[in-house]
Order: sequence, then C-alpha cells, then structure tokens
Amino acid sequence: EDIVSLHTAIKRRTAQDIRTRKSGEPIVSLTAYTATMAAIVDDVADFILVGDSVGMVVYGLDSTVPVTLEMMILHGQAVMRSTSKALVVVDMPFGTYEESREQALRNAARILKETGCGAVKLEGGLRMADTIRFLVGRGVPVMAHVGLTPQAVNTLGGFKAQGRSEAEWPAILADAEAVAEAGAFAVVVEAVAEPLGAEITRRVAVPTIGIGASAMCDGQILVLDDMLGLTPRVPKFVKQYGSLGADMRAALAQYAEEVRSRRFPGPEHGYALKAP
Ligand code: KIV
Ligand code: NA
Repeated sequence: EDIVSLHTAIKRRTAQDIRTRKSGEPIVSLTAYTATMAAIVDDVADFILVGDSVGMVVYGLDSTVPVTLEMMILHGQAVMRSTSKALVVVDMPFGTYEESREQALRNAARILKETGCGAVKLEGGLRMADTIRFLVGRGVPVMAHVGLTPQAVNTLGGFKAQGRSEAEWPAILADAEAVAEAGAFAVVVEAVAEPLGAEITRRVAVPTIGIGASAMCDGQILVLDDMLGLTPRVPKFVKQYGSLGADMRAALAQYAEEVRSRRFPGPEHGYALKAP
C-alpha cells in the first residue's frame, strides 16, 4: 500500500498493474481521444490508449504519419482530465522517437510531464529495443507495438496483415521478444495471422494486447469509434458492438424535422418572463 493511495478512494491503474496480468484475466482496452468519450470508457477499460489513430478518426487524415506531438499532448490532457481509474497510455507519433534514444526520452518526458499519463507507446520491435531499455531505465513505462505498425505504412505498402506466411514469423517473434526483454510492460500485436498472435503470447513474458491478432492474447484493444459503429469503413478485425452512427442519423433527422415544423423548442426548453 503506497502513501499516496491512502488519500484516494480509487487508485488509478499503473503500468505495473497491467504487467502483472500476464496469463491472467484478459486485459480490456479501448482508444479514446476526448473527455466525453474517455469518461465513459474509464468505467470499463483497464487502460485507455490515446492512439495516434486520432489523426485518422478525428482529423480525417489518410494515415497516422502526419500526427504531431502537440496533438497527442492535447488529447492526452483531455483524456486525463475526465478519467480516474484506467491507466492512460499516450502514443508517441511518427518522427518523435526513432532518431535516437535521447530524442525519444525528451519527447516521452514531455508527454508524461504535460499530460500526467502513466505510460507511452511506440511502434517497432528489435530496432527500438535499445530505446525502450533507455526510457524504462529512466522512469518512462513503455508499451511496444509489433506486427502491423501503421506509422510504417509507406514502407509496408499499405495496411496489410503480417505473418500470413510462416517465413515471416521469426522476424516478428524476434521483435516481440526483444521489446519484452528491453523492459516494455506490454506489447500491442496488430493484424497478424491468428496462430502467430497465439505463439507470440506464449513466447513473451509480458502481456500481449491483440488487435486483429488472437483471442489467446492477454488482452484486446479496439478503436472506440470503430467498435461503436461511428466509422464508415472498418478493418476485418473490428467487431461492431454498437451502431452509434445510425443512432446519430436518426436523432439528427428528428431534430431537423422538429426545427422545420417548429415543434422544437417546446415551452419547457425556454424561459418565461420573471414575475415583476
Ligand atoms: O493508434 C491506435 O489506435 C493504436 C491501436 C490500434 C493499438 O495504436
Ligand atoms: Na497507434
């Protein structure tokens, strides 16, 4: 029991809490980028990812490549302000950590200091292992991300599932093992052949968080807007648990109809004169 938790009813989850969930009860995670959405997700998620998918979902970009550190910090702040239970993990955007371990620490420190979040996530396996070790050794909890790494869309030639031929497996397994050995507290495994997702989960000592990977992963994550049915087109690995887009259309159609017919606003939505 640490000293700070004596003063608060519910302690926010930490990267350490997530790490201890290897082979335990599956870890539940979703993305969120805004205060409104994050407050709702906070009631169910073990951790919330402020993903750089914000660039595509919120800003209408074609990929995550143009996302900036400033965007991630602003959305990280919004999510932190409206949550109290889930660990908040903020993505490091393309170009803010690959150059050197010093660059990565400088930008990861900005994210931790300016948002108050509990961890950062970065993409890459073996080639990022030294950087992960450097960050973790200096107080920055790191979640890694292997398999399909969307920031590399321009070298991958598109958003394509990885490891669908067994010849690709050794490299992807080496990536997952390298980031775990370097001290990552968990690793996202995105869009890989199902048996590879399961094999990575068996091989690495830290929790795997699957997205289009395998039900055998130690946890799952989905992009909130995708699973709620707010996004027009979604990848194969997304199950839609809601149809908020359709619900919104119905609500807006009713609003438009009532405005046009002067049935909205009603007397209960307005202000009467005060008694003199
Ligand atoms: O940016 C994001 O939303 C992600 C998840 C899909 C893992 O990185
Ligand atoms: Na991301």
